[in-house]
Amino acid sequence: MAFPPAFLDELTARNPIEDVVGQYVNLKRSGSNLFGLCPFHGEKTASFSVAPDKGIYYCFGCHKGGNVINFEMEIEGLSYPDAVRALAKRAGLEVPEDEQYQSRYRQQERLWALHKEAARFYHSQLYAPIGANALQYAAGRGMPKSILTKFGIGYAPDSWTALVDWLRKKGYTDQELRDSGLVTVSRKNGNLFDRFRDRLMFPIIDVRGNVIGFGGRIMNNQDKSAAKYLNSPETLIFNKRKNLFALNLAKKSKLGYLILVEGYMDAIALHQFGFDCAVASLGTALTEDGANLLSRYTEQVVLIYDGDEAGQNATKRAIPILEKAGLQVKVLQMRDAKDPDEYLKKFGADRFKLLLEESSNRVEYQLNAIRKKYDLRDDDQKVKYLQESADLLSKIGSSVRREVYGNRVAETAGINADAMELEIRRARERKIKHEDRKWEREAVQPVRSIQPKERSLRYDNVKSAMAEEMVLSQILTEPALLAEIPELKPEMFSAEALGKAFSQLSERYRQGLEVSLSGLTDFTPEEMSHLAGISQRLQGPVNHQGLADCARTIREEYQKSQTKTMDDIMLYREKMQKSKGTKP
Ligand code: UTP
Ligand code: MN
Repeated sequence: MAFPPAFLDELTARNPIEDVVGQYVNLKRSGSNLFGLCPFHGEKTASFSVAPDKGIYYCFGCHKGGNVINFEMEIEGLSYPDAVRALAKRAGLEVPEDEQYQSRYRQQERLWALHKEAARFYHSQLYAPIGANALQYAAGRGMPKSILTKFGIGYAPDSWTALVDWLRKKGYTDQELRDSGLVTVSRKNGNLFDRFRDRLMFPIIDVRGNVIGFGGRIMNNQDKSAAKYLNSPETLIFNKRKNLFALNLAKKSKLGYLILVEGYMDAIALHQFGFDCAVASLGTALTEDGANLLSRYTEQVVLIYDGDEAGQNATKRAIPILEKAGLQVKVLQMRDAKDPDEYLKKFGADRFKLLLEESSNRVEYQLNAIRKKYDLRDDDQKVKYLQESADLLSKIGSSVRREVYGNRVAETAGINADAMELEIRRARERKIKHEDRKWEREAVQPVRSIQPKERSLRYDNVKSAMAEEMVLSQILTEPALLAEIPELKPEMFSAEALGKAFSQLSERYRQGLEVSLSGLTDFTPEEMSHLAGISQRLQGPVNHQGLADCARTIREEYQKSQTKTMDDIMLYREKMQKSKGTKP
């Protein structure tokens, strides 16, 4: 849906970017910009900039950037319209909503209410006579009543329509029941049946406290064909990739880190034993969305996946995803039990705490993984082990850490620490030489380094694109310059996104509106980042002659491309004529 431009301008005016960003980042002024530590990637020196006069932010490290709406989207993980709504609320503005959105929101509200009702129903059944077995099962797994209450655990009775009947009685329509995902529809006659039957029920609650779905565990193992856990399907309110079990509780933890585990029962057991910072993925591997969600509440994650091979593989896959979200990762290797739930119930919280304290950071974990690949009694393999470890350690920036880990590897392999240090230094030199060459290549051919990282934004005509970037950066600095290049038209731009930006900015100038990136609409986050980068990287004093030269280059390149197209058409026609002519 499109919001009226006048409303968006009011919205950006009432939400100064430095205030909004300032809620998340500690900013310090430097000239006309403010700088701070980038909230989107881990860093120690401030490369994240905010330009209050231009209404934009841009990180020189990870190249994310855009206007205040883009920032709100990125930091809170919101869609464009939801970010607009959040900012409107912050500034006390009324949002002109359309009918479609209102009806969708009403539908969501009904589903949240329905789920709350269902959770109440399941929970009450646990204490009804029909739930006796389930209650016993929960007790058998060591869950006290306080935990059953805290997590709202319940029981779905062994009946075809217990929930359907209950919800109908509460006034929910059959359509709403179908939309909730909590019922299945008979293919024969369209009748509705309970999806969850005779299962222990775990409500899934989002960070705002809404029940959005359920996981249900089977309690007897007789039916081998039935899944151990059945989860709600995707619905209007439930997306399993974007939510994490127990985050609603863990986000309030004072422990300062979050523990990520595989199973509902693992997360619950951790809370029960005092580790109130545990969350679990929802029956899927960790996704980028999940990692971004975590990064909103913590900077450090301890991964505790099952000790089996599947768990180890999942760990390997999760580490880069978490790091990409700017999180520090520690890994706890499960041993003497298959998962945290079993471990805690066998050995208790104190021993688990020891395990947690010795949980290794990423480097240790990776060194361990390398260690496991080789048999150190074999000299050849020992050499490979040392080389691969040296390669890994050569990437560490801190010399102290390189030495500490280097010594440890040397000890493991039974070699001299100096020899190991030499090996690491060689690996480091190889790497630096490699990077120098890469830098040289790019410096010699600047064309290549101006290409945007994002493939969809790659420039076809680099010469023209460089001029286009310059023009945009100049008019963002001084909009009145637009009057000096009246013959430059958006369609002459070779890069589509840049032409679109030029078109919208010119239009705003004509209408007497503020000419800045904060007024742009319909750009993807990647395009906005790219534009913010142009504005922040190329900022410089107004240069009338330079601007005129750039405008001319764009026009000339455009004309060349047009003649080329004409040439192509003529050539094609000629060919067609010829081939027709030669035909008998
Ligand atoms: P596990 O099989 O490790 O179960 O699955 P668990 O958590 O240890 O459970 P208990 O202790 O046997 O009760 C880990 C997670 O994978 C998802 C669930 O989210 C589960 O918590 N899963 C597992 C499913 O979604 N469906 C299944 O059939 C099995
Ligand atoms: Mn388990």
